[in-house]
Amino acid sequence: MANSYSDFSLSFSHVVNPKVESGSHYKHQDILSLEGFELANKEITSWNNYKPTPLHSFDDMASETGVSSIFYKDENSRFTLKSFKALGGAYAVANFLIKQLKEVGINANSSDLINGTYRDQTSKLTVCCATDGNHGRSVAWGAQQFGCNCEIYIHRNVSPGREKAIAKYGAVVNRIKGNYDDSVRIAADVADSNGYTVVSDTSYEGYTDIPKDVMQGYTVMVDEAMKQMNDMPTHVFLQGGVGGFPSAVVSFLQESLECPPIFIVVEPVNADCLFQSALNGEPTAVHGDLDTIMAGLACGEVSVLAWTILESHVPHFMSITDESIPKAMQLLANRKTPIVAGESAITGLAGFLIASNDANLKSKLMINENSKV
Ligand SMILES: Cc1ncc(COP(=O)(O)O)c(C=O)c1O
Repeated sequence: MANSYSDFSLSFSHVVNPKVESGSHYKHQDILSLEGFELANKEITSWNNYKPTPLHSFDDMASETGVSSIFYKDENSRFTLKSFKALGGAYAVANFLIKQLKEVGINANSSDLINGTYRDQTSKLTVCCATDGNHGRSVAWGAQQFGCNCEIYIHRNVSPGREKAIAKYGAVVNRIKGNYDDSVRIAADVADSNGYTVVSDTSYEGYTDIPKDVMQGYTVMVDEAMKQMNDMPTHVFLQGGVGGFPSAVVSFLQESLECPPIFIVVEPVNADCLFQSALNGEPTAVHGDLDTIMAGLACGEVSVLAWTILESHVPHFMSITDESIPKAMQLLANRKTPIVAGESAITGLAGFLIASNDANLKSKLMINENSKV
C-alpha cells in the first residue's frame, strides 16, 4: 500500500559486514570509552550556552512505516554552529591547549581558557585542519573560544557559504584545487612545516590521539539522546563520512547497553568508503571527486580508528544516491513544527525511509512493528 513515504522507493546498495562480531562485548576502550565520555561530558557541559539539543519523536512516520517509534536527534541548535561537530573539534582544541599548558606546569581547564587566563601562552599556538565545512567550523570556533590561532584547508567543492561560516570565527581559510583527501594531506604538510598542530577528525597511521578526542566529544550527544529517549533503541541509522561520528555513537551504545541496537551506517554512493571497506573486509579508499550534495560526507578514505570500531560492531552498510536527500529535508521542513536539517544530517533518516520501502532489506535489517529506530 502506498504511504506518504513511498517516493523513497529508490535504488540503494546494501552490504552485510562479514567481520561483524555479533553479540561480542565492546573491547575498544583504548580508542573510545565511557571513561573518556565522562571527561568529555564534564568539559563540554561547562561551556557557555551548553544545553542538550532536542530529540524529536516522529509518531506519524513510525505508524506509516510500520515501526514502533522513530526518534531524530536534531543538532541544529548546538551552540552557534548548527552542527554536532562542535562537540568534537572544539573539545579536541580545548584538550590540546590544556595539555600544552600542563607541559609547562599549568593546570588549566576549559573555563580558564574561555576566560583568557592563559591567553599569553595559548595565543602563540596554531591549530590546523582540513574540512568539508562542518569540522573546520568547529575547530575555528574552538580556537576562538579557547584562545589560539587557526588555519583551515577546504577543497574545491566547498561552498562559499561554508567558507564564510568558518572565516567568521577568525580562522585563516585556504582553498585548494583537489578533493577532501588532498586537503587532509596538505593540512598535514603545512602543519609539519610551520609547527602547527593538526586537529583532524580523521585518524591515520601515527596520528590518533587528537582524533580520539574529537570522536569522544561526539559521545556527549549520544548520552543526551539516551536520556531523552528513556527507552532502548533497536535500530540506529547513522550517516558516515570518515566514520568518526558513527563510531562514537556505536562505541557509547555498545559499551553502555546490555543489549545494543542494530547499527546501519548510510553513505553517499560517490563517497562510500565505509561501505567499500565492509565489502572488501579491509579499509578501502574510493577515488574521484566524491561529488554529492551530502557535502559533509564527501570523504574517500576511512579513519583507521573509526573503522576498527565499525568493523567489529556494525553489521549493515548502505550506500544511497542524492535523490532522497531533498525529499527527506522537505519532509522535515513540512512538519507541523518544521525542522531544518542539513543535507548530511538527514542521510541516516533517508536511509531508514529507503529501507522501509524495500521489503527485502527491511527483513534483512530485522525491522518490524516492534522496532524503535
Ligand atoms: C551532519 C554530519 N553527519 C555526519 C558527518 C560525518 O562524520 P564522520 O566523517 O566523522 O563520519 C558529518 C561530517 O561533517 C556531518 O556533517
